[in-house]
Amino acid sequence: MSSSLNRRYRHGEWPQGAPWNEIIESLLQHTSVRSYLDKPLPEGTLHTLLAAAQSAATSSNLQAWSLLAIEDPARKARLAELAGNQAHIRQAPLFLVWLADLSRIDRQAQRQDIELGAPAYLDSLLVSSIDAALAAQNAVVALESLGLGSVYIGALRNNLAAVIDELQLPPLVFPVFGLCVGYADPTRQAAVKPRLPQQVVLHRETYGQPVEQQLVDDYDQHIAAFYREQGLSTPSWSQQAVERLRSIHTLNGREHISAVLKDQRFEQK
Ligand SMILES: Cc1cc2nc3c(=O)[nH]c(=O)nc-3n(C[C@H](O)[C@H](O)[C@H](O)COP(=O)(O)O)c2cc1C
Repeated sequence: MSSSLNRRYRHGEWPQGAPWNEIIESLLQHTSVRSYLDKPLPEGTLHTLLAAAQSAATSSNLQAWSLLAIEDPARKARLAELAGNQAHIRQAPLFLVWLADLSRIDRQAQRQDIELGAPAYLDSLLVSSIDAALAAQNAVVALESLGLGSVYIGALRNNLAAVIDELQLPPLVFPVFGLCVGYADPTRQAAVKPRLPQQVVLHRETYGQPVEQQLVDDYDQHIAAFYREQGLSTPSWSQQAVERLRSIHTLNGREHISAVLKDQRFEQK
């Protein structure tokens, strides 16, 4: 327990006897995988991952999400190009696209001769996207427990209209993110990336103003050490995070999402 916590936070004192088990141990081992072996997944893996995903909680049992599984190398290559040319999309044997999907319920409404009013509102986009994210994370936990690795691909939204076109997504369907799945190349495996100290993230009862600066400074040191160990010259967390949100240029095309979503009938009123 303490070695996993120390790896995740690189510091800290932990309460004696805090609850712990092998599921939590496995969650703390998570790392994104960006280098895959050329090795197929065991037969039936997709079905196991989907069962884990479908077991996640879902808002009002709407199950307002779908999964698109892509194995065709040519399609993976086209998607890789659309998503910032990320080589791991080509390399992974399986590329999953997690879809917010209100179209299935819309089809039921049409059968019942009813016109849906709610999809035009922002909350419906949130509901379906949150559903898709919870399902995806269940699949990630499941695949990691099977010795597989993955990395989320938010850059799938960089060229949203082209991705919708490539995947032939109907109205009321939105690709929230992709997920590469495969066996990690053990020679290029990343270490566990440290996270912010718990005192920075945790508020009790109301949102306080924690004494966070010293703790963020400490974290910047920990993450800088992590990046150095990985042979990367990435700046500190505080610099990197501010830079990422500083201007719309770092959105890499995602600044147009709202307009494309409106075309998909997610009006966001
Ligand atoms: C919604 C989402 C989108 C992401 N998109 C990308 C991506 O496009 N490319 C990538 O290499 N990593 C992507 N990541 C992975 C994050 O960079 C990674 O989770 C983060 O740096 C923490 O590292 P760790 O997962 O190894 O702990 C994404 C993660 C999430 C949750």
